[in-house]
Amino acid sequence: METAGKGVSVNKEALVQVAEEVRQATGLPVGWRDVERTLGALRATRDLWEVVRLSRVPLRFLVPIWESLARRGLLRVEEGLDLLAEVPAPRPGEAACSACEGRGLVGERLPGRAAERFLAWAKGRPEAIQDFDQGYVTPESTLARVALAWSWGDLEGKEVLVLGDDDLTGLAAALTGLPKRVVVLDADPRIVRFLERAAKAEGLPLEAHVHDLREPLPEAWVHAFHTFFTDPVEGPLGLQAFVGRGLLALEGEGCAGYVGLTHVEASLAKWADFQRFLLENGAVITELRDGFHVYENWGYIEQMRAWSWLPVKRRPEKPWYTSALIRLELLRRADLENARVEGDLQDEEASTY
Ligand SMILES: [Fe+2]
Repeated sequence: METAGKGVSVNKEALVQVAEEVRQATGLPVGWRDVERTLGALRATRDLWEVVRLSRVPLRFLVPIWESLARRGLLRVEEGLDLLAEVPAPRPGEAACSACEGRGLVGERLPGRAAERFLAWAKGRPEAIQDFDQGYVTPESTLARVALAWSWGDLEGKEVLVLGDDDLTGLAAALTGLPKRVVVLDADPRIVRFLERAAKAEGLPLEAHVHDLREPLPEAWVHAFHTFFTDPVEGPLGLQAFVGRGLLALEGEGCAGYVGLTHVEASLAKWADFQRFLLENGAVITELRDGFHVYENWGYIEQMRAWSWLPVKRRPEKPWYTSALIRLELLRRADLENARVEGDLQDEEASTY
């Protein structure tokens, strides 16, 4: 490995300086550990998308961090991202179980041959489109998420609500034959029609409705469910619209929610705000499994917000966008306001819409 140019030293102090510089320039909550994780990932790969996945640093932070490292002579950005110095940053270990991809659960064990039947349906799913900020997870991710809910007893005999369902979680849940009823709300009529067709063909207690989550939740769905699933838009208002509505839809104490949350578009400062929001509304996190959902690469990547920032304009060859799965449970009924959410659901940390 080449060594850094004369006068360039990389120690903890340098990591702190890079973080401070980026924080000043962008106003974003970048910390020294973000810089360390970036460097650690750069030790493992020169592929930009792999750095995103391995570093767990928001893409919005990575771009100015790479720029700062390049200015310091530590990084060369051409076809790939090449580290030019020995850096004191740990390489991220990759020790996930190959059978379950680290999730600890596999859909094959779900009842009702749900996995096999789900995979057949998923082949004919509507493609992800930018209008609704879509992007769906692999079928294995959807099935494992449903398997986690099964393992907690959040499916059998339960009324289940899915808020936004390009992942087809509602279909996978219904195919297990366990829930009493599954209701899916989605803004995209293509998804609603697809789910209705599947429900009819399979004779499932699954209904789907076109609904924009910025609008108040219709009264019939308030405090009417035992379990919800959602993958929120991750700005503060997005979390309010998706997770807030989910909490409001739950009957009360003992009901559960399953929420996806990324590092790609959410800093740890935002994670902290989100955890505070949950606690303030009577919800406790009972499981948090990082990297649980793996997203299929979507067609509109060159049109997404972050594309213009990228120092290396190459389409990803492997999945790179992942999210954690969080299970929460209510200690009391959540009485959130059911008003229309006004304003942008995205925030400064967003990169893929
Ligand atoms: Fe495993």
